[in-house]
Amino acid sequence: MTDTHITAPAPQEEDLVADQTLRPTSFSEFVGQSDMVENLKLYIEASRNRGDALDHVLLFGPPGLGKTTLAHIISKEMDVNLKQTSGPVLERAADLAGLLTNLRGRDVLFIDEVHRINNVVEEYLYSAMEDYGIDILIDKGPSARSVRLNLEPFTLIGATTRLGSLTSPMRDRFGVVLRVDFYEEPDLVQIIMRSAKILSVQIEEDGAAELACRSRGTPRVANRILRRTRDYAEVKADGVITKKVAMNSLERLGIDSEGLDDMDRSILSSLVEKFGGGPVGINSLSVAIGEDPQTIEDVYEPFLIKEGFLQRTSRGRIAEARAYNYLGIDRPENQPTLFE
Ligand SMILES: Nc1ncnc2c1ncn2[C@@H]1O[C@H](COP(=O)(O)OP(=O)(O)O)[C@@H](O)[C@H]1O
Ligand SMILES: [Mg+2]
Repeated sequence: MTDTHITAPAPQEEDLVADQTLRPTSFSEFVGQSDMVENLKLYIEASRNRGDALDHVLLFGPPGLGKTTLAHIISKEMDVNLKQTSGPVLERAADLAGLLTNLRGRDVLFIDEVHRINNVVEEYLYSAMEDYGIDILIDKGPSARSVRLNLEPFTLIGATTRLGSLTSPMRDRFGVVLRVDFYEEPDLVQIIMRSAKILSVQIEEDGAAELACRSRGTPRVANRILRRTRDYAEVKADGVITKKVAMNSLERLGIDSEGLDDMDRSILSSLVEKFGGGPVGINSLSVAIGEDPQTIEDVYEPFLIKEGFLQRTSRGRIAEARAYNYLGIDRPENQPTLFE
């Protein structure tokens, strides 16, 4: 079923290797997001000059836009080691303590999906972030006592697709909070040209442009459709990705001129045809299309919202004008919009 989800920005199995080979390793290779990159460079330079650890950094935004990449680049530019884990993996305080006590001065601890840390571990993280120390409980019963572990100053880099699911005490402990945005087409063209070079694929500029405008603003998707299109070009054409080859390959992949795939179409048509354009709750929508509500929210909706296909309101999802245009259905007169 991967082809149905070709444009889903969350990492799929085949991306794990590709993400690494194609991952930029320095700011100079990192395309786009220039304001954020300039800010980061400044913070890094200042803390390097002072010899301090960089402030804790929170990176948030939809999947596939470069959060993990940035965490690695930051540690490299700080010239320190990076230890990586993720929220759901940290089950017990001891898991966290083990990681923290192995950090050397100024090292980076990267916690992906930081909003999924459980309450207990989160409490420990607070004092680690604030005071570079944790109190752990040893022994049980009457001899139980708490021992203070002092840590080297370190930088926590947290990544999340859901800023809203982070508790506010957690959020407040990050000195630097950065939003990673969808990429503009020229940036995606550059990313595709760069990846093509690494993968030794011949691609023409307008072939890259065709792939870029259907990558839903997401580098991971751009790289994925580049790899699929390379296969197509090798088998069906002479190996060169021209505009024509790109268009044919995208058509086979079920990606239309707006960059939408089967799942997006299913979301929009369900919203409009089954639920009269909404408002409809995410759970009803989820049942209707047979996709997990959290996946719909984190993976599909951000791009559909950004492009003006739908909106989230307090009463549920509603279809916007662009969804009706896209489906070729007249919008009912009394259809609510966000602006009512
Ligand atoms: N700014 C960028 N420039 C070039 N490639 C990028 C950029 N951002 C992301 N990528 C590519 O997209 C892939 C996914 O990025 P990643 O950092 O894993 O996203 P996230 O952690 O936000 O889901 C990376 O392997 C990399 O190849
Ligand atoms: Mg990531």
